[in-house]
Amino acid sequence: MKKYNSIFKTILFTVFVLTFCHASAQTKSEEAKMNTYVASLMGKMTLEEKIGQLNLVTSGVATTGAVVNKGVEESIKKGDIGGIFGVYGTNYISKAQELAVKNSRLHIPLIFGLDVIHGHKTIFPIPLGMSASWDLGLIEQSARIAAKEATAEGLNWVFSPMVDIARDPRWGRMSEGAGEDPWYGSQVAKALVKGYQGKSMKDADAVMACVKHFALYGGAEAGREYNTVDMSLIKMYQDYLPPYKAAVDAGAGSFMSSFNTINGVPATGNQWLLTDLLRKQWGFKGFVVSDYTALNELTNHGLGDLQTVSALALKAGLDMDMVGEGFLTTLKKSLKEGKVSLADIDLACRRVLEAKYKLGLFDNPYKSINPDREKQDVFTDDNRKFARQIAEHSFVLLKNKAQTLPLQKSGTIALVGPLADNHSEMLGTWVVAGDPAKSVSVLEGIKNVVGNNVNILYARGSNITDDSLLNARSWFYGMQQIKDSRPAQEMIDEAVETAKKADVVVAVVGESANMSGESSSRSDINIPESQRDLLKALAKTGKPLVIVLFNGRPLTLTWEDTHAGAILDVWAPGTEAGNAIADVLFGNYNPSGKITATFPRSVGQIPIYYNHKNTGRPFDGKGPAKFKSDYIDISNDALYPFGYGLSYTTFKYSGIKLNKTALKGNETLKATVTVTNTGKYAGEEVVQLYISDPVASISRSVTELKGFQKITLQPGESKDVTFNITTKELEFYNNRLVYDWEPGEFIVQIGTNSSDTRTASVQWLK
Ligand code: NOJ
Repeated sequence: MKKYNSIFKTILFTVFVLTFCHASAQTKSEEAKMNTYVASLMGKMTLEEKIGQLNLVTSGVATTGAVVNKGVEESIKKGDIGGIFGVYGTNYISKAQELAVKNSRLHIPLIFGLDVIHGHKTIFPIPLGMSASWDLGLIEQSARIAAKEATAEGLNWVFSPMVDIARDPRWGRMSEGAGEDPWYGSQVAKALVKGYQGKSMKDADAVMACVKHFALYGGAEAGREYNTVDMSLIKMYQDYLPPYKAAVDAGAGSFMSSFNTINGVPATGNQWLLTDLLRKQWGFKGFVVSDYTALNELTNHGLGDLQTVSALALKAGLDMDMVGEGFLTTLKKSLKEGKVSLADIDLACRRVLEAKYKLGLFDNPYKSINPDREKQDVFTDDNRKFARQIAEHSFVLLKNKAQTLPLQKSGTIALVGPLADNHSEMLGTWVVAGDPAKSVSVLEGIKNVVGNNVNILYARGSNITDDSLLNARSWFYGMQQIKDSRPAQEMIDEAVETAKKADVVVAVVGESANMSGESSSRSDINIPESQRDLLKALAKTGKPLVIVLFNGRPLTLTWEDTHAGAILDVWAPGTEAGNAIADVLFGNYNPSGKITATFPRSVGQIPIYYNHKNTGRPFDGKGPAKFKSDYIDISNDALYPFGYGLSYTTFKYSGIKLNKTALKGNETLKATVTVTNTGKYAGEEVVQLYISDPVASISRSVTELKGFQKITLQPGESKDVTFNITTKELEFYNNRLVYDWEPGEFIVQIGTNSSDTRTASVQWLK
């Protein structure tokens, strides 16, 4: 028997090696074919045509800057354009592609890009919300569906995933990423790249991902948009860079440079970043596009005039210039003056052409253009079903006093708040192609789910905001707040009267879609005042108060936490908002999301994140203490810590069982907890693994997330959850930026969130 086993193993191994060798030989020969093709094409190209490939223009469907390109049609014919973005629809795209392929001298196809950030036409929750699902399968599938819909509308490139780590909720773009944790952010980055790019980028339903914003954009000082980033190298490598690197490892085809400076050098002209780190250290093989006019903005950063900064950025490793036409208008002159070399231009041009090759556009420039698919594959019932599912999984139950939720499917509900009967705010930020009118409002969703069994009394209660500045800055592209012109007090009075007639009040409140996202930094992250006033009046009625919270970032909710019976954080849920919210409110789905960014008690605590350092004078959290690292007017703790989220049921964790407490080198530590569902509902729990390294050559974070498992338990059911830990989980960047682990004691923590864990200690020697 043993003999057969070993023969079988040898055969398996041989098959594996042969398959691997075959695959890598295939990749090599593919690469060789691509090199030959691109080299031969470049052999025919004029200097102007090469520079044209580096030029990305927009025709103005979705613009995020002051400048829009003119004369696009003529430029395509001349070969002055490498790609177009901010457009979608096979009608436009096939015409533009035809111009390039039939009317330009060398028939080079264009690449078409768009900000497809959380779905294309079927809109899923904002990325911060999706990340709260801790379901990498669903997250990957969201990107797969988005890619299918986007390609059905002619696109082949998406400006996603946004993988910027962010620890400052004043920054509006926190909504676009996966939160504050580098390890978790890396898992999400990989899942999204895989989802977008599919099995092969050549497939008609696959797009090329564009990882952004490289780099460290989320570290903007004071959370102010486009602001300076200045951070130590250790912090950069340990906490901010991992998700970008994970995206490279997952095979992302392109990167977008960020607007910010990094320790004095703007990312878009930063050779260390774009060449030394991204390409030489990480082995990235794709191309880098600038963010919207980021090349031109190097002038504002103080690096020189357009010609100077264009030459500098090209040499730094930037390949494509978004909108600004700096490359197009200056590189020829710079070549003549010796400020760039032909090799610099060729390198960038080759990278752009290679991307088109990898997408299969030279084989078939119209590969995704199929009007039938545009009709059949977009906004389908299945996609909407999925949108409902992922929205439900993204919601986080922040509070649930005395089981206020789930609601009974009977009795009378007062549904109030400016977001309750509202379609236009359901989708969140960055929905270029999504149609708000096709979203399900909360009022509609509740009717769909409970029909006539529940008596629903509706009152608007307040406007989203009555603050004129916030109002002016929170609605873009001609959209406007749907305002009620009645005096605020009259609306509140009506809502209070309505509340008095009901068994329970459901207040749907929070931020409008564009109070977060690009150019939406806030210094005050409370629920806007008009809605706060409404909540205060509702709380006074003494009726159970459920807050359904819309938000693109963590908000400060200390008042709400004290006064509401329940808070369900629904972010901006997307197309199926109302249905998903109703499913959760009435217990058809038991919430299982956990926040991926810390919720502060006050703006003064920001930046606040769970994996901070200990300091030399740590505060133990007990009572007022002089000369400790704390505040004299507020506790250090978060209101809701990273990884936190409740369920309608309760989970009990056993202590941690270890297979050993002393380990050496490559051994594996198995850490097991038993989790029991001690409540009345079936539920899912995200079991989280953290590790701390109390003694090391540098001061380490107090703890770091290293794994998680999402499990489902029936009432009364128990499951053992085991994490296999190797020295990979112990590694960190030391003072010389070497990624390694150091022997000694490690504390394993497993629990329901970053500040509620069981612990066990091990010694691990080299
Ligand atoms: C600016 C934003 O920073 C970026 O995320 C986006 O992809 C581009 N505009 C293109 O719309």
